[in-house]
Amino acid sequence: MRIDIISLFPDMFTGPLGHSILKRAQDSGLISVHVTNPRDFTYDKHRIVDDTPFGGGAGMVMKPEPIFRAVDSIVNASNAQHRRIILMCPGGQVFDQDKARELAGYEQLILLCGHYEGIDARIREHVVDEAVSIGDYVLTGGELPAMVVTDAVARMIPGVLGANASAEQDSFYNGLLEYPHYTRPREFNGWEVPEILLSGDHAKIERWRRKESLRATFIRRPDLLENVELSPLDYKLLKEIKSEQAGG
Ligand code: ADE
Repeated sequence: MRIDIISLFPDMFTGPLGHSILKRAQDSGLISVHVTNPRDFTYDKHRIVDDTPFGGGAGMVMKPEPIFRAVDSIVNASNAQHRRIILMCPGGQVFDQDKARELAGYEQLILLCGHYEGIDARIREHVVDEAVSIGDYVLTGGELPAMVVTDAVARMIPGVLGANASAEQDSFYNGLLEYPHYTRPREFNGWEVPEILLSGDHAKIERWRRKESLRATFIRRPDLLENVELSPLDYKLLKEIKSEQAGG
């Protein structure tokens, strides 16, 4: 998969994309990430990318031409058949794990980062396929959201996480929060690792993990349970959890 980011601040991406799993994924060719600066697509002496809003008001608006040309050059240089052009914007559809999984199915994503008061609306109307928000709050620009989307999408691509199982056990992957993890030492500060995890009984461990995953979801995000298909065992475990939580 190729991810193209259009941003006035390309240097912001160097750190987050240059480390750990995202770096490895790029080094091994599983993903490639390119940042394009719309300022490189201005033809005037002062390389102007923004202007005052028609109708008046505070702030500046990103001009349509440099963005249009940046998108055009990226599209023309690619032979991807299956591409999505996404505007990062607080008014977009709220990003979640399902969206990450969906976007991971494209050959190419073009993530457009707005700045200042936003982007000339004609880009959203005529160029962009959809707008995505990373949550109901307003950031100073679309760069951090583009990094969030890049990270969440990249780790859905087979091979990026190394062990195939890792993504499947994530919080949200199966609609539930994750069960707790423990490692050595067995006892730390007097705090013990749950005995069952040391038992070597894989069936029991599996059941415990499912139960703790259900418990975490029931306590912290009960809204998620409404959208999960629960098995008869899950219902049984939930009943146990409810009685345990009630102190029964
Ligand atoms: N740009 C500014 N705030 C944003 C948000 N919450 N999500 C996506 N893009 C943004």
